[in-house]
Amino acid sequence: MSKPPTQSPCDPAMPPVVSPPLPSLSQSPTDPGFVQNPYPFYDRARALGPLVRWQEYGLPVATRLAAMNALLKDRRLGRERPSGQRCPMPAHMAGFAALQADSMLELEPPRQRHLRAAVQAALTPAMVAAQAPVIETLAGALVDAFPAHGPFDLVTAYTEVLPARVILHVMGLPEVPLADLQRWSEAMVRVYQAGCDRAAEDAAEDAARAFVDYVTRAIVRRRARPGTGMLDALIAACDAGAGLAPAELVANAVLVMNAAREATVHALGNAVAVLLAHGDADQRRAWLAPGQIEETVEECLRFDPPLHLFTRHVYEEVEVMGHRLPAGSEVICLLGAAGRDPARIEAPHRFDPYRPSKPHLAFSAGVHFCLGAALARLELKLALRTLFTRCPVLRLTAPPVYADSYHFRGPGALMVSPG
Ligand code: HEM
Repeated sequence: MSKPPTQSPCDPAMPPVVSPPLPSLSQSPTDPGFVQNPYPFYDRARALGPLVRWQEYGLPVATRLAAMNALLKDRRLGRERPSGQRCPMPAHMAGFAALQADSMLELEPPRQRHLRAAVQAALTPAMVAAQAPVIETLAGALVDAFPAHGPFDLVTAYTEVLPARVILHVMGLPEVPLADLQRWSEAMVRVYQAGCDRAAEDAAEDAARAFVDYVTRAIVRRRARPGTGMLDALIAACDAGAGLAPAELVANAVLVMNAAREATVHALGNAVAVLLAHGDADQRRAWLAPGQIEETVEECLRFDPPLHLFTRHVYEEVEVMGHRLPAGSEVICLLGAAGRDPARIEAPHRFDPYRPSKPHLAFSAGVHFCLGAALARLELKLALRTLFTRCPVLRLTAPPVYADSYHFRGPGALMVSPG
């Protein structure tokens, strides 16, 4: 994940210099206007050039889809901090750091490839497809529980609950209290958000320890009485010596649950907000009709993705759009801006599920391309279809309020009325 816009004590005093020098611009990632709508800033950045310097992060930013795609696929860059720059996490985050050290998302091949293969083998296409009736049942039960009269908050009633229930079912851990999963995953990803402070670090550490403790005890129980969930498949891989050591099993089980919950909650919230804001009941019926719904989900991911910014470390000098990024530097890929690049998308700020091509980087690219993309797409499709089939005239009673959680983007509240 990306680091928050604070200078880390491990960063060199004189960071490696990009040449020729980059145009520079300023934008606080916690500014209320930016939080509610970051896209005008992305346009400003793009207008300055394909590579610009974001002052608050102190880093170069790729603003064009083509450049980001190239950087994400270039093996001379990666997520893992170069060994010469090992930055020990503070002592008060030792538990959190231990989890990160075994998480595929914080590593590069060959270790990341082995971990990813082991986890991917536990989430096969057949297993994803088999979730469809479960997702529909879980979504239907949530809609059944909506208040008969509005306004009510659709985030707490639907968009933040369904992805949590789905991933717990996929893992085979339906007994985990949703409030615990939410507290753990929110506290852990908070470390990557703008404005993270000591209290947030302490909360992340507590959450990491509690989550590890829970998963470790669940593994003991499941060894004694195996089930059929993804966790059982991961345990079997670990016990068979198939590329997953015990600590890696725990770390990547936690990663999957956090990644699945956080990203899908925000993606579903954004998609619902977009469909409510941009279409009436008749348009939504057409957008979500069989044969069109997959295209509409893709347009939602292009138009308003949930994860906007990730960084990459540069291991060997690379040239991007006429600029040299030196070894030892770090660069931001602005995934949230990729789907709005006018060089690739006509009228990119128009929501149009019928546009013939919908290029985006919502799931990233390269070796870290989202491992759960197929499940996420299925979940979005079924969640939107269930919601709008059962509540066709659902309407916003107030504009969506986006949460101050950059680099995540998603509504903190969606006040709606069912009729
Ligand atoms: C709409 C929902 C989702 C979005 C937009 C999303 C997005 C992403 C992105 C952008 C990355 C890569 C970050 C980078 O390149 O630095 C990623 C990685 C990952 N995602 Fe997702 N994700 C979603 C849902 C899920 C789900 C449902 C799961 C699990 C079932 C999942 C599991 C993972 C894992 C394990 C990784 C790490 C892959 C690796 O490092 O090789 N994600 N996701």
